[in-house]
Amino acid sequence: MAVALAKPEPSFAAVGGAVVCERVTVRFTTERGTVTALQDIDLSIPTGSFLTLLGPSGCGKSTLLRVMADLIEPSSGRVTVLGDAPTVARRRREIGFVFQDAALLPWRTAMENVTLPLEVGGGKALPGARSPHELLKLVGLSGWEEAYPHELSGGMRQRVAIARALVSGPRLLLMDEPFGALDEITRDRLNEELLEVWRSTGTTVVFVTHSIYEAAFLGEKVLLLAARPGRVRELVPITLPTPRRLAMRETPEFVALAGHLRRVLETC
Ligand SMILES: Nc1ncnc2c1ncn2[C@@H]1O[C@H](COP(=O)(O)OP(=O)(O)OP(=O)(O)O)[C@@H](O)[C@H]1O
Ligand SMILES: [Mg+2]
Repeated sequence: MAVALAKPEPSFAAVGGAVVCERVTVRFTTERGTVTALQDIDLSIPTGSFLTLLGPSGCGKSTLLRVMADLIEPSSGRVTVLGDAPTVARRRREIGFVFQDAALLPWRTAMENVTLPLEVGGGKALPGARSPHELLKLVGLSGWEEAYPHELSGGMRQRVAIARALVSGPRLLLMDEPFGALDEITRDRLNEELLEVWRSTGTTVVFVTHSIYEAAFLGEKVLLLAARPGRVRELVPITLPTPRRLAMRETPEFVALAGHLRRVLETC
């Protein structure tokens, strides 16, 4: 059965949004020469939306996330996060970051890892932030508050990392392949849980993945980046009903969307 795909959009509306990138270029200079990791990225991510980033290795996905997180300054162009420079948003503790590796402190319990950003940042969460207890419950870890990281599975550690990223009540959650190291069943479960967290917190999410299926299942839109230099190839709206259910991945609509993403990815 032929399924009509919504027409891809070249970019989000140019104004407003939780994150706005205007002609963002990032170059790295090393002894081996200069690499243009990102070139002229124009992007506006609507507040409260869920965007997934997909592209070949080295196309600049992590670099783009790090620019938004104020970990890297662009060589040229402008980035606005929640209406201000990324540095200002970071200082206001409005940005949460989850890496591929949960990076928990092994000598602290799950609860103590979750509360760490509050201690480091002066003890205060933003208005509307959930309590560490509520967050551990939200990520399905009630009863594990006193467990140490070595007593938790990889998936459980990633859930602690998500709770930790949410503890200050961030309005922007940046996730760089957070489930890449997990088995598919655990990953599926965490995908559904993440959507639940997103729905109930209203935070804007930018999520990097190598998986076409994860990108299509999670995202309201998928941003495809091409490599060398990293640039926007296509922004694909995901026209699946919400809330998303894992069984949707077997529908003709999903299969068609995944096929489209794969074909574009092959040209990146
Ligand atoms: N700190 C750095 N110094 C020098 N070059 C860098 C640095 N960080 C990234 N690069 C280069 O920038 C390019 C983009 O890297 P980036 O890590 O953003 O890619 P990626 O899309 O996240 O890749 P992957 O899917 O493998 O994680 C690569 O060519 C990489 O070698
Ligand atoms: Mg990366």
